Amino acid sequence: MTVATLPLLDSLSALADPTRCRMLLLLEGHELTVSELCAVVQLPQSTVSRQLKTLADAGWVTSRRDGTSRYYSLNLSNPGPSTRDPGPHAQLWALTRAQLEGKSATTQDLRRLERVLAERRAASEHFFASSSGQWDRLREELFGVDFAFRALAGLLDDEWTVADLGCGTGAMAAVLAPHVKRVIGVDASEEMLDAARRRFSDEADASERRGASGPPPMNIELRHGTLEALPVSSESVDAATLMLVLHHLPSPAQALGEAARILKPGGRVLIVDMAPHEKEEYRQQMGHVWLGFSEEQMKKMLTTAGFTRVKVHALPPATTAKGPALFAATARKS
Ligand SMILES: C[S@@+](CC[C@H](N)C(=O)[O-])C[C@H]1O[C@@H](n2cnc3c(N)ncnc32)[C@H](O)[C@@H]1O
Repeated sequence: MTVATLPLLDSLSALADPTRCRMLLLLEGHELTVSELCAVVQLPQSTVSRQLKTLADAGWVTSRRDGTSRYYSLNLSNPGPSTRDPGPHAQLWALTRAQLEGKSATTQDLRRLERVLAERRAASEHFFASSSGQWDRLREELFGVDFAFRALAGLLDDEWTVADLGCGTGAMAAVLAPHVKRVIGVDASEEMLDAARRRFSDEADASERRGASGPPPMNIELRHGTLEALPVSSESVDAATLMLVLHHLPSPAQALGEAARILKPGGRVLIVDMAPHEKEEYRQQMGHVWLGFSEEQMKKMLTTAGFTRVKVHALPPATTAKGPALFAATARKS
């Protein structure tokens, strides 16, 4: 490379214009369209577009399409020759930025930028001012009912191992797996475990078809076994879930004792099951042993099994649900 072809010279010559520097300062904090930039720097569209092209050619700005709009932003990420070198853009921009700060043109630009951003907000403010009564229906219509609850699993610690006890066809494991290190699903029924395996292979195929980023959840391990003698080592999991399974067990207390055994100290348990109900027919139809559990029963069983900080709360019934009311109980291994 000769001195005449040094990339630094291109970067410098693109910077050698006050309007371009003003534009870069605006694009540092916000992605802006050409017309928004025009409104702030008060120059015609042809001028702003020409200056943007110069900046883009020298790698100072990048852009991305959002629907029919194109948004521009400052690009400082051009790598330098070594990984520790932030590259010429970052260094040059630090110097240039310091010179722009406090200048009256900069202050005026930033005031106009605030107005432009306020106009962006106006459309959404107008929408919510007039649609608060319909928003819940529209939200469900556009995105379904359970996306927020699925997303909440993102608050889990990504280093956790979670045991889903009585995992059935793997509905819960599928929600947990993208957010934690490992899920161990245990179930006594080979048929239910087969259905879970089919679910995970179908979901992996679907996510591959969608071109979803990241690998499909390969962190789910399914184990055949009973909740009364779990095939899981002691103090090896951070959390355990028992979803709609406790009412099937002749000895729920024994299963809770096993859940406590496999949890690390301080580990958490989540139980979802039915509140007391009178659907006697469930015993024959679905093999239920217990017609739900009261709050007092749950608190007593969990405390006896060695759990503390026991909380039991009723879950609001879904409008489409035909079964008995549910509760969620949470506790920690002491
Ligand atoms: C109603 S299903 C719930 C499945 C899953 N947790 C869900 O929320 O969809 C109950 C599951 O518990 C399993 N199960 C029942 N008794 C069990 C036991 N003693 N040990 C292990 N699994 C058991 C059944 O095979 C079944 O898959």
